[in-house]
Amino acid sequence: MSAFVHIPVLVKEAIEALGVQPGGRYIDCTLGGGGHAAAILEHSSPGGQLLGIDADPEAIKIAEAKLQAYRDSILLINENFVNLQAICIKYDFYPVHGILFDLGLSSIQLNGNSRGFSFQHNAPLDMRLSPSQEITAADIVNTSSEAELAHIIETYGEEAYSHQIARRIVQERPVETTLQLVRAIKRAVGGRKGRIHPATKTFQALRIAVNHELDHLEAALKQAINLLGFEGRLVVISYNSLEDRIVKQLMQRESKDCICPPGTPTCICGHTACLRLIHKRVITPSPTEVQLNPRSRSAKLRAAERITTQDESFQVAEKLNFLVGIEANGWRRPAMLMKLRMAFSLP
Ligand SMILES: C[S@@+](CC[C@H](N)C(=O)[O-])C[C@H]1O[C@@H](n2cnc3c(N)ncnc32)[C@H](O)[C@@H]1O
Repeated sequence: MSAFVHIPVLVKEAIEALGVQPGGRYIDCTLGGGGHAAAILEHSSPGGQLLGIDADPEAIKIAEAKLQAYRDSILLINENFVNLQAICIKYDFYPVHGILFDLGLSSIQLNGNSRGFSFQHNAPLDMRLSPSQEITAADIVNTSSEAELAHIIETYGEEAYSHQIARRIVQERPVETTLQLVRAIKRAVGGRKGRIHPATKTFQALRIAVNHELDHLEAALKQAINLLGFEGRLVVISYNSLEDRIVKQLMQRESKDCICPPGTPTCICGHTACLRLIHKRVITPSPTEVQLNPRSRSAKLRAAERITTQDESFQVAEKLNFLVGIEANGWRRPAMLMKLRMAFSLP
C-alpha cells in the first residue's frame, strides 16, 4: 500500500454544500484516499450510508482501510463513475441526499512512481486510472499522427506550443517513459521559462485523453442529477478550467426554465429547471488552505440542489426493482417509505 497520503481539499465547504445530515445517503464518486468520505460518514452518523466509487483499485484498498470504523455503513465499488446510474440501480442506492465529485488525481496517484502521471518521476508512460483500460499514454504518443497529437495537446492541455511539441514527439518516437517525454517537450519549447513546468499542460492533455475524462464527467453529472432525491445536493470540486466549464455550464443550464437561444421571441425549448444553484460565486480554498496544501490552489467548488422530483424513467426502474428484487439490491435495502418520501418529495 502507498506510503503517500492525500490531503482532502475544501472538506468543510463540501460538507456544508452537501448539507450532510444524520441518517442521510451519499455517494462519493471519487473516493481517492477516503478523506471526504470519512467526513461525510462522520457528519451523517448515526445511520448515514455511503456508496464510494473509484476507477483505481488501489484507491479502493486505501479507502477501505481508512473507513474501517464505518464498514457497516459503506459500499465501495471499483468502477468508473461514467457507470454511476447502472451502479446505483444495481445496488438499489437511490434516490440519495447528496453526490460528491472531487475530480482529478489523488496525491497517492501523483506521487506514486509507477503510474506515469507525474513528470517528476521516471515511469512507463501509462496514465490509466484503471489497469483494465486498454489504451495507455504511450499508445497515444507513439501511434497518433502529428496532427492528432497537436490536437490533443491543444484541446485538453490548452498548450500554446502544441504543434512544436507534437512535431518533436513524432521525431523522437518511440517515447516510452515520462522523462523521455519531458525531454522531448523541453527540446520543443526551447528554454521557455514560466510559472509552471513546461510539461504540465502536455501531461494534463494526455491524461484527459487516456481516461476520456471530460466525456465521462459530462455523462456522469447528468446521471447524478437523476439520482438525487428532492432537495438532494450535487457538489463538484474541479481542478482545471476544462472540467470547471463543463460543471458550470451544466449547472447553469439545468437551473434555467428556458434555454432557447437569446432573442427567441417565445420559448420553444420546453425546458424546465431541475436545479437551484447553492452559491452566487464559485468557492475556492482560503489562502491558509493553499499554504497548507499547495495542491488545493486550483480547486473550484460548485454546488446545486435538486428542485424537482425524480424522472419518470427512474420511477419505472424503481418499480421494476421492487417487483424483480435483484440479488444485488440486498445491500442495506432502505425502508420503502424513506425512498418514496425522497422520490416524491413527501414531508
Ligand atoms: C482528487 S482524488 C479524490 C480524493 C478524495 N476526495 C479524498 O478525499 O481522498 C480523485 C479520485 O477520483 C478517481 N477518479 C477520477 N476519475 C474517475 C472516474 N472517471 N471514475 C472513477 N474514479 C475516478 C481517481 O482515481 C482518484 O482516486
